[in-house]
This record gives sequence, structure tokens and C-alpha cells, in this order.
Amino acid sequence: MGESELAGPGADLRHQERTFALTAVEHHAPIVGSAPSPLLWAGEQDTRAFAERLARQPGIADAFIALHGNLGAGKTTLVRHLLRALGAEGRIKSPTYAVVEPYELPGLAAWHFDFYRFDDPREWEDAGFRDIFAAPGLKLAEWPEKAAGLLPVPDVDVHIALEDDERRRVTLRANTPRGRELLS
Ligand SMILES: Nc1ncnc2c1ncn2[C@@H]1O[C@H](COP(=O)(O)OP(=O)(O)OP(=O)(O)O)[C@@H](O)[C@H]1O
Ligand SMILES: [Mg+2]
Repeated sequence: MGESELAGPGADLRHQERTFALTAVEHHAPIVGSAPSPLLWAGEQDTRAFAERLARQPGIADAFIALHGNLGAGKTTLVRHLLRALGAEGRIKSPTYAVVEPYELPGLAAWHFDFYRFDDPREWEDAGFRDIFAAPGLKLAEWPEKAAGLLPVPDVDVHIALEDDERRRVTLRANTPRGRELLS
């Protein structure tokens, strides 16, 4: 199912989409191969459960995961649950102003990027972002669209769309062998 089919404006269409998403959840394994697979997270507990499963995959220690979705979709929330599941302690703040927040976790390094305010490509070199993406470790990036052309191909693209206050419709796409392994 293409993105354009997910973005219908009418309430009726939304109802159909929801029906489709629920059907897909019922009839398919929650995480499948490289094909986009719509999921429905009924609340933050589902977001957390997904993060905890992802944290158990060995490939997570050296992965690049791009997080797409509007303001308030739940990108930072997913990152927080993932970093917690990987052993992060203390406050996990949103790196909107700093662009990146580094983490030393048990057995791996992680970087949480938020490119929302990224608008100077020189910063890519100057702030060492190129080096971070060349180094081993987990890279998580919100608003990757704002650094298009600089970022490498993500192992996994996560698209989160708001259904209502609590529910999120989520599409996962694996772009690399590591990404397929992460979602298997
Ligand atoms: N199922 C859910 N998954 C994730 N967040 C949820 C869910 N249900 C409710 N929420 C709430 O939605 C909000 C998501 O905010 P969050 O900061 O994670 O969004 P964001 O996508 O990072 O936005 P921004 O683009 O501004 O960085 C949080 O307040 C969170 O508690
Ligand atoms: Mg955020």
C-alpha cells in the first residue's frame, strides 16, 4: 500500500484505512521483510513494546533508524523507550536545539538526532555528524528529511502517523540486510 493511499482527507476514507490497518495487524506477522507493513499501536504501551523488541535485536548496536512523522507523532517517545530498553538512565531529552544527543549505553554508543532545526549543511562536517555516521553505534534520527542528501540510507524507516490521541498508524520499511534482520 503506497503512502498516497494512506493520506486521504475524508472521514470515510480514514475509516477504510483504519479497517485495512487493523486487518493487516490481524493477518500478518507484526514485522515483515522489506515491504511496508502498516501497524496500529493502540497506545504508548504498544510503542514501548515495539521499542523493547527492537532493543533485543543484536543488529541494533550498529543501526541507523530514521523516524518520520508530524510534530507530536511520537518519534521522541519511541526513541525514549528504545534508549531505556537499551539501558539508558537519567533524563532523555529531545535534542531539538542541540541537534544531537550522545549516549554511552552498556555495550554500545548511541546518538539521537533531531534535524528539525538543521539548516546549515556546513554543520554536517563541522559538528562531526559525518564522523558519527561513519562510526559504529546506533543512530536514531528525527526529521531526516531536513538533512536529505547528507544522511546515508537508513537501515529502517519508521513512519508514525497520528490516528487520535493515543493511537498511531505505523509503517516500517527495511532498506538494507541489517534493516531486514532488525524487523525479522
Ligand atoms: N501510541 C503512542 N506512541 C507514542 N506517543 C504517544 C502515543 N500515544 C500518545 N502519545 C503521546 O504523544 C506525544 C508524542 O510526542 P513526541 O515528542 O514523542 O512527538 P515527536 O514525534 O517527537 O514530535 P516532534 O516532531 O515535535 O519532535 C507524547 O506526549 C506521547 O506521550
Ligand atoms: Mg521529537
